[in-house]
Amino acid sequence: MKASTGLGLIVCSFMFFMMIPEVSATIWTVGGDQGWTAGVNYTHWSEETKIYTDDWLAFVYERRGSVLEVNRSSFNSCNSESPIHNWTSEAGRSVIPLKIPQKYYFITGDEGFCYGGQKVAVEVSSPPVPADSAASCHKLSALVFISVCWLMII
Ligand SMILES: *[C@@H]1O[C@H](CO)[C@@H](O)[C@H](O)[C@H]1NC(C)=O
Ligand SMILES: *[C@@H]1O[C@H](CO)[C@@H](O)[C@H](O)[C@H]1NC(C)=O
Ligand SMILES: *[C@@H]1O[C@H](CO)[C@@H](O)[C@H](O)[C@H]1NC(C)=O
Repeated sequence: MKASTGLGLIVCSFMFFMMIPEVSATIWTVGGDQGWTAGVNYTHWSEETKIYTDDWLAFVYERRGSVLEVNRSSFNSCNSESPIHNWTSEAGRSVIPLKIPQKYYFITGDEGFCYGGQKVAVEVSSPPVPADSAASCHKLSALVFISVCWLMII
């Protein structure tokens, strides 16, 4: 009897953790298969991509590539001086968290490539359903579930 209660408790606890909602954050690879490189116009990619807060942007590039986060005017003029953030990584992969619903601007540090189109502006919006209410809804259903689970053991 005691053993089965213990087992039930383990099963219930396990299922409870399974029901905790995963944060459905998405990692978007800039440019898709083309990655972050010269000669690609990223306007189409950014217009086709719906990005929400807590998503991530991944820039994938060859050696000597770079990723700079800049303001709007530096984006327009391909100005790589004093960027907001230099995300360049030796590994050729920069993964950037998008925490704020705003427009983010990224350019390559190479001016010529930037003029050629290696820059991207992404609009980050708040998720359509407030994350808080969705989470508490999940918590409530998890609570109901674990209560039923407990009643079945007892
Ligand atoms: C944008 O950033 C550049 C470089 O840091 C700076 O010189 C410029 O004043 C900034 N522009 C605005 C509108 O903040
Ligand atoms: C950004 O960082 C890379 C790697 O650390 C560096 O080579 C590059 O000069 C930096 N660029 C700017 C504009 O700060
Ligand atoms: C990229 O494409 C957009 C939309 O098709 C166009 O308006 C823009 O001029 C292009 N940019 C470059 C640098 O070719």
